[in-house]
Amino acid sequence: MGDMPSALPIGDPAPSDGSLPASALTGLGDRPFGVYVHVPFCATRCGYCDFNTYTAGELGTSASPASWLEGLRQELDLAASVLGDPPAVDTVFVGGGTPSLLGASGLGQVLDAVRSSFGLAPGAEVTTESNPESTSPEFFSAIRDAGYTRVSLGMQSAARHVLAVLDRVHTPGRPVAAAREARAAGFEHVNLDLIYGTPGETVADLRASLDAVHSAGVDHVSAYALIVEEGTALARRVRRGELPMPDDDVLADKYELIDSAMAAQGLTWYEVSNWAASADAACRHNLLYWQGADWWGAGPGAHSHVGGVRWWNVKHPAKYAELLATGTSPAAGREILSDDDRRVERVLLELRLATGLPLDVLDPAAQTEAKTAAADGLLDPTALDQGRCVLTDRGRLLADAVVRRLT
Ligand SMILES: C[S@@+](CC[C@H](N)C(=O)[O-])C[C@H]1O[C@@H](n2cnc3c(N)ncnc32)[C@H](O)[C@@H]1O
Ligand code: SF4
Repeated sequence: MGDMPSALPIGDPAPSDGSLPASALTGLGDRPFGVYVHVPFCATRCGYCDFNTYTAGELGTSASPASWLEGLRQELDLAASVLGDPPAVDTVFVGGGTPSLLGASGLGQVLDAVRSSFGLAPGAEVTTESNPESTSPEFFSAIRDAGYTRVSLGMQSAARHVLAVLDRVHTPGRPVAAAREARAAGFEHVNLDLIYGTPGETVADLRASLDAVHSAGVDHVSAYALIVEEGTALARRVRRGELPMPDDDVLADKYELIDSAMAAQGLTWYEVSNWAASADAACRHNLLYWQGADWWGAGPGAHSHVGGVRWWNVKHPAKYAELLATGTSPAAGREILSDDDRRVERVLLELRLATGLPLDVLDPAAQTEAKTAAADGLLDPTALDQGRCVLTDRGRLLADAVVRRLT
């Protein structure tokens, strides 16, 4: 999943020229630097999704992929000038929305825009999310030739009735076929996204999905518990009593099933919702978020973080293109993180990683709480003795609660 929380935070006004305080630019380039590109288009909206995305019918004539691409080029140029001596990009992540709706030539133009404003570091990781139904062998070969190195496919489930509840439009077999096509086109790094806990999903359905993942031979899997987001069609169906709310105990059992199936397939967790076949197969772009590095998020509603300053763009593609056309930054607001904000954020993100969080990031009261959490079986006592907070298997099931105890 890319960096796209749906509701925009309330922050301070952002400068209209996009400028950043000098303190944010100190050490830029010493830390990994990534670019996230948000593609705000989908053919249809899935009932559970509250990402910033629009169907052609919703946009009408107000915005199009062409006006979005023009705005994107302008934002990337603005980014390069704001950053002064722009660092080479270590990771690019094109997320959505549905990037594959742009077709291989559109995705090639996106990457060319990143290259022309910034330049890619040698060995850069370049990922695109893709929906299984808008891909083909030719699509994968062409994006590989264009410079993409990693593909992330939204599979969600292999059970037809689960896909129907989620409003997914692909057939149950298409994600695995797409993953194989991507591998045949030369992609070594392919991810499948799963959603578990959908109303009506049985344990047998989940097992079938995990078997299907196995048959695809991918080197990365992300598995997310279904979140019933306010304002979605799914939330309305749950409120009307048409569908039950996912049950926490069932979700925990399913998480354990996923984790053991991943281990049997040779994939190890490196973040609570992410498993990879090796350290090389981990998503470097997402690690950059979780480790508090720098990234510029370009596109409508995208979020950015550089040197302790976080900002977010206007959400609507028409407003986004309109601002950039007049040379104005599309940022809607920003926040300058205090040392304490940054510390809390580190706990929130690094605790979810298999490498864990250095104990000394915690304040003294939280360090004492960490010892209690280890006694409760939630943190690994050996790692704690060595100065790190690392979740145990049980701790992973209760990761959010552990984070609350330590912040
Ligand atoms: C927002 S989508 C974008 C990529 C692509 N359009 C797709 O659907 O695969 C990225 C991933 O977010 C996850 N996701 C989105 N909404 C979710 C929700 N309400 N609960 C759990 N996972 C969700 C899905 O697994 C999805 O594959
Ligand atoms: S295709 Fe992906 S981004 Fe689009 S609505 Fe469905 S989950 Fe959301």
